[in-house]
Amino acid sequence: MSERADERLQKVLARAGIASRRQSEKMISEGRVKVNGQTVTEMGTRVDIGGDLIEIDGRPISRPEEKVYLLLNKPSGFITSLDDPRGRPKVVDLVKDLPYRLYPVGRLDMETEGLLLLTNDGDLCYRLSHPRFGVEKTYQANVLGVPSAQKLKTLEQGMVLEDGPTAPARVRVIGQEAGNGILLVTIHEGRKRQVRRMLETIGHPVMRLKRTQYGFLDLKGVKVGSYRRLTEEEVTRLHGLAAGEVKPLRHKTKKEAAVRRKGFD
Ligand code: URA
Repeated sequence: MSERADERLQKVLARAGIASRRQSEKMISEGRVKVNGQTVTEMGTRVDIGGDLIEIDGRPISRPEEKVYLLLNKPSGFITSLDDPRGRPKVVDLVKDLPYRLYPVGRLDMETEGLLLLTNDGDLCYRLSHPRFGVEKTYQANVLGVPSAQKLKTLEQGMVLEDGPTAPARVRVIGQEAGNGILLVTIHEGRKRQVRRMLETIGHPVMRLKRTQYGFLDLKGVKVGSYRRLTEEEVTRLHGLAAGEVKPLRHKTKKEAAVRRKGFD
């Protein structure tokens, strides 16, 4: 058994669709299961589905690909596309120590920083990216000048961009630096350069943009350029998000205050 032996043999067999948990236990006790060439009859033996060769009656079981879910803190200057004829740095380069083909959930502009999910779970990736399930995304935007309350209202009511009207956004000025505003903008759509275009349209172009939240997830503890795996509980919640319908945006003062404290790294 390899060093990463971390799941009970009968559970692995059941999950691989070989048999029910009970039937799997029976096969083990009957001596029909081998791990790395050795017959295993002890119930609860731990194995690594990725590294151990598991055979039943001499036939290896096929390994379902492990599903991987990562939360990356994207630096500016990396593209989310998987291929680039111009050879620019790619976000997938930042996770190439892992032996999986991972895809970004949605996209961020090359210059945008912050929270990006990566996974090899194609179904979840598709559903989370679909506007129907519109997950709330919050961006911290440093803009030129400080928008008036009236202009912020335009964003909150929904505005017309060249590719159509936007849904209402949640917007708040959380600070100022040398006469320029720092805003939190929450949207649940994912149109190309949407936040930049919205702010440009009200006359306050974005100088720096960072996604600080994706649904219930934030960047806590993840340094720029690094990533962490989502916990099982987070993955379950993410599946829940992907199954839900869009809820109307409303202000969440406490959360926003927390995002504000984190600020840019
Ligand atoms: N909105 C933008 O303008 N850019 C991003 O990268 C994400 C949202």
